[in-house]
Amino acid sequence: MVARKLLFLLHLFVQLAFARSTVRVNWDIGYVFVNRDNTKVRRAIGVNGKLPIPPIHLAKHDTLILTVKNSLNVHTSIHAHGLFQNGTNYLDGPDQVTQCGLPSNHTFTYTYKNISQSGTYWLHAHSLHQNADGARTPLVISDPEDVKYPEYVLWFEDWYPVEFAVRMEQTMDPNQPFPPPVTYPNMLLNGHNPQENRTVLKFEVGKTYRIRLINMSTTEWFKFNIPGYKLQVIETDGAPTTLTAVDGVDMGPGQRYSVLVTAQDRLTSTFTVALHASFIPLDSLKNPLVYNGTIEHTGGSVSSNYSKASEPAPIDTNNLVWTDDIYINGRNVNLLPVDRQIKLTLNGSLFTDHITRDIINNITYTLPKVPTLYSALSLGDLATNTSLYGPQTHSIVLNHLENIELLVYNPNTIPHPMHLHGHKFQVVEYGPIPPWMMQEAIAASLRFAEHKLPPKLVHPAVVTNLQPNERDTVVLPSLEYVKIRFCADSPGVWLFHCHLDVHHAMGNALTLIEAPLLLQKQTVLPKEMLEMCRLQGIRATGNAVGNPGFDLSGLPPAPTMVP
Ligand SMILES: *[C@@H]1O[C@H](CO)[C@@H](O)[C@H](O)[C@H]1NC(C)=O
Ligand SMILES: *[C@@H]1O[C@H](CO)[C@@H](O)[C@H](O)[C@H]1NC(C)=O
Ligand SMILES: *[C@@H]1O[C@H](CO)[C@@H](O)[C@H](O)[C@H]1NC(C)=O
Ligand SMILES: *[C@@H]1O[C@H](CO)[C@@H](O)[C@H](O)[C@H]1NC(C)=O
Ligand SMILES: *[C@@H]1O[C@H](CO)[C@@H](O)[C@H](O)[C@H]1NC(C)=O
Ligand SMILES: *[C@@H]1O[C@H](CO)[C@@H](O)[C@H](O)[C@H]1NC(C)=O
Ligand SMILES: *[C@@H]1O[C@H](CO)[C@@H](O)[C@H](O)[C@H]1NC(C)=O
Ligand SMILES: *[C@@H]1O[C@H](CO)[C@@H](O)[C@H](O)[C@H]1NC(C)=O
Ligand SMILES: *[C@@H]1O[C@H](CO)[C@@H](O)[C@H](O)[C@H]1NC(C)=O
Ligand SMILES: *[C@@H]1O[C@H](CO)[C@@H](O)[C@H](O)[C@H]1NC(C)=O
Repeated sequence: MVARKLLFLLHLFVQLAFARSTVRVNWDIGYVFVNRDNTKVRRAIGVNGKLPIPPIHLAKHDTLILTVKNSLNVHTSIHAHGLFQNGTNYLDGPDQVTQCGLPSNHTFTYTYKNISQSGTYWLHAHSLHQNADGARTPLVISDPEDVKYPEYVLWFEDWYPVEFAVRMEQTMDPNQPFPPPVTYPNMLLNGHNPQENRTVLKFEVGKTYRIRLINMSTTEWFKFNIPGYKLQVIETDGAPTTLTAVDGVDMGPGQRYSVLVTAQDRLTSTFTVALHASFIPLDSLKNPLVYNGTIEHTGGSVSSNYSKASEPAPIDTNNLVWTDDIYINGRNVNLLPVDRQIKLTLNGSLFTDHITRDIINNITYTLPKVPTLYSALSLGDLATNTSLYGPQTHSIVLNHLENIELLVYNPNTIPHPMHLHGHKFQVVEYGPIPPWMMQEAIAASLRFAEHKLPPKLVHPAVVTNLQPNERDTVVLPSLEYVKIRFCADSPGVWLFHCHLDVHHAMGNALTLIEAPLLLQKQTVLPKEMLEMCRLQGIRATGNAVGNPGFDLSGLPPAPTMVP
């Protein structure tokens, strides 16, 4: 009897532990006219008439019901960067990959059910690079079982004087020289010009704080440090890590970190954020762009040293230890075995239409006429034949539960932050590209040679990470390679692309089609999704052009490279 009562109580407890809340958020996405960086008013993309978009905070196992109304005059869609969408691939967001965009004046609800992940993520539009014009905000998922610290969320954005489409037009204009004229971005911290709207870190001496850092930038790197402090890295892109002490965190677009700091007695009164743009020239005032934020202390002993100590501590910026994937070990992560290695070479090329595009293994990505997921769902047994998705989607079919290693070479002088949808991968190894490839690498990099580069991370030639850390976005430094591993355990259509929006738009992307036959069995497309296609006259079945079987007639001709 007693045992049964206990069992009942235990059952109730388990139920309560998982009975999390449902959070409803309504977003009316539309144009706003704002002066975010104190330069000029420009058109941007906001939510409910405002920018920045308020961050969303959830707890693990919550359900987020995000209802999106599209008040833009073009389609839109939302990607929850870093969420697995296991079983709900159709909610992943990229238009023409896993959905038709949401047409103007229509509404769609993204229901992210019982989110099993925790950590630091972000939501952003995944159509027409609308994130670059403002459609981006943090998504923080706390784990009730984590040690609790008082928290700060710091998110960084780059802000340009013109809309992304204008920058892209310049970049892809065959009549303009490549690369286009330099435009320096400004820095936004927590959605604002930091000089105007100050973000103050309030430190109570002796307390430990968790600082979540999110790089929501489209083109720029950010460095964060608190002079004199060690930052203990406990999270990379939602994955827990063993404690790793660094002097500063260096983040590429899309990347996130959580660091712990224990406030010491007025060690410093500033934290520093530096935006360093990778492919525009250095400039003492504009690149890197440095912002010193304020730390205010309470408690502790107010020593006679205070006034002196409150000056920024002198630091030797040349000798700081910055985050580096290879130095951060995952927590309880074993190295995955490899069933198949896929070699990918990132490059750029001039095409016969005088446009410079990005390529991966000689292919520049362009959107298919039918969302690739809908092809995979409707092609029956032919769904395993990559050619039916169209050559420009660069589709690669993965088998269910196959352990994949992507060996990615970057023979260019520009670093690429590569993001994989639907998974976290293990960062296993990276280093300079072996000498046999260097010749080509140098040839390939010549086109960008007129640009000076930001200082490179320094790390050993080749390291194999035995307890790799996991993440969803890895920065591939220039002239280096990286090996990343993941298990193909989530049937779906997942993009792998550079998170520099300009590169993504220039074709730096490919499509992984994971276990398409199993996917067909598991998936029932909500009919609202098909309705979005119908409204825009986009076909939702068949191969890349919407024909049944092998007939790809009507596919736009692939751009051809200048040999
Ligand atoms: C959306 O609705 C507004 C007002 O009802 C209308 O002016 C506009 O033309 C519509 N846009 C589209 C693309 O249908
Ligand atoms: C949420 O997911 C967890 C597994 O991640 C499961 O144990 C739990 O029952 C689910 N809760 C609900 C309400 O579906
Ligand atoms: C500063 O932030 C406040 C509150 O978030 C906001 O009301 C105000 O408009 C912001 N000012 C500027 C110049 O961005
Ligand atoms: C974010 O990434 C961009 C581009 O990769 C970079 O320029 C910027 O400095 C990064 N920001 C932070 C805070 O890491
Ligand atoms: C004041 O500064 C000196 C030298 O930096 C240090 O040794 C001392 O501990 C400081 N005193 C307090 C109360 O912090
Ligand atoms: C920021 O503080 C550092 C010292 O920590 C100083 O060298 C630098 O000049 C400051 N930069 C700006 C832009 O205020
Ligand atoms: C990169 O592309 C250029 C042509 O644009 C070519 O000459 C070079 O061999 C390529 N490099 C690699 C490593 O593919
Ligand atoms: C895949 O389709 C192409 C035609 O698009 C065909 O040539 C090829 O033989 C097919 N491959 C397989 C394995 O069926
Ligand atoms: C997806 O779900 C399956 C089973 O439900 C699980 O084995 C797999 O690990 C999950 N994958 C991811 C990336 O969450
Ligand atoms: C890359 O594509 C071009 C045509 O656009 C072709 O001439 C060249 O041989 C291809 N290179 C490789 C390595 O496939």
